[in-house]
Amino acid sequence: MKIAIIGGDGTGPEVAAEGVKVLKSIAKIEGFADQLDLTELDWGGDRYLKTGEALPADGLDQLRQFDAILLGAVGHPDVAPGILERKLLLDLRFGLDQYINLRPVKLFPGVETPLKDKGPDDIDFVVVRENTEDLYCGAGGFMHKGTPNEVATQTAIYTRKGCERCIRYAFEYTQKRNNPKGKKLTLVAKTNVLTTGHDLWWRTFNEVAADYPDVEIDYNHVDACCMWIVKNPEFYDVIVTTNMFGDIITDLSGIIQGGMGVAAGGNINPEPGGVSMFEPMGGSAPKYTGTGKINPIATINAVSMMLEQLGQSAAAERVMSAIMYVTDTKMKSQSAGKMGYTTSEIGDLVLDALA
Ligand code: IPM
Ligand code: MN
Repeated sequence: MKIAIIGGDGTGPEVAAEGVKVLKSIAKIEGFADQLDLTELDWGGDRYLKTGEALPADGLDQLRQFDAILLGAVGHPDVAPGILERKLLLDLRFGLDQYINLRPVKLFPGVETPLKDKGPDDIDFVVVRENTEDLYCGAGGFMHKGTPNEVATQTAIYTRKGCERCIRYAFEYTQKRNNPKGKKLTLVAKTNVLTTGHDLWWRTFNEVAADYPDVEIDYNHVDACCMWIVKNPEFYDVIVTTNMFGDIITDLSGIIQGGMGVAAGGNINPEPGGVSMFEPMGGSAPKYTGTGKINPIATINAVSMMLEQLGQSAAAERVMSAIMYVTDTKMKSQSAGKMGYTTSEIGDLVLDALA
């Protein structure tokens, strides 16, 4: 089990360290410590400022040698926005063909949600976001740049292959998740306005659905979905959506599950031999660097997702139970600086719970 650890920028390395601590501990408990092979890579903003490269030229090839990647955070205050995001996140997603962005939205016990009268039974769904196409392809251009007549285009690209593999993954995932409330997959798009690209998604969704007769299907326009996520999150089991809309609704969903201190995601290449990357959703929060104020639960949640993807389901569940025990019984809040403990103390609490 070869795992690359990219701490990244700001508070990323601190939370990644807590993830590593939990990973080492669960490997001992579940008896796979001898197989665990961790490599820390110092890629990120500091490296970019020193060398002009956020990652080495053969970075992608290096990563292909691993079974999975744990990423802390990307974003450095001295590097212009867009550079590190492209190099360290988007290029990896595209280069390793991590075509699924998986975002479980689960309110852990003891965690506060801004939604009135909603609890852990109501907030428990999963967003499957396409992760390689759409507006993220970088297709577009300028005409008359810098003049009053300037025109800029930014083109969304959707392919049959791209949407079909994502939609199929979502159906398989819904089947496997086997929600006791019913297996339901909701396509979220905007077919009333995006009448070509999202027509492709709509047709593909309905065609693929025929192969999964046990999964109930539903459709929401993205704007309506944003209302329902806030008003009736219990409507959802699994959502499948495009890259750009998925980016937006997963931040909305992140906040109803208690915020960036708990939310985690996986950039997944589900093909045999595919290398997937797991990350907390919180960002690098540079002003908190070295203060011990950032919640590592999101990173530990990412570790649980990584273990699941690596086929270590028992270990994944055990880490998940430990997280829920700690959020329920120990922590005052999930927000930075208000948790009642430091970053590494929370890592220790999870280790105690595991033991
Ligand atoms: C995310 C992030 C990235 C995205 C940014 C940092 C490029 O917001 O993982 O959701 O837009 O996908
Ligand atoms: Mn985002």
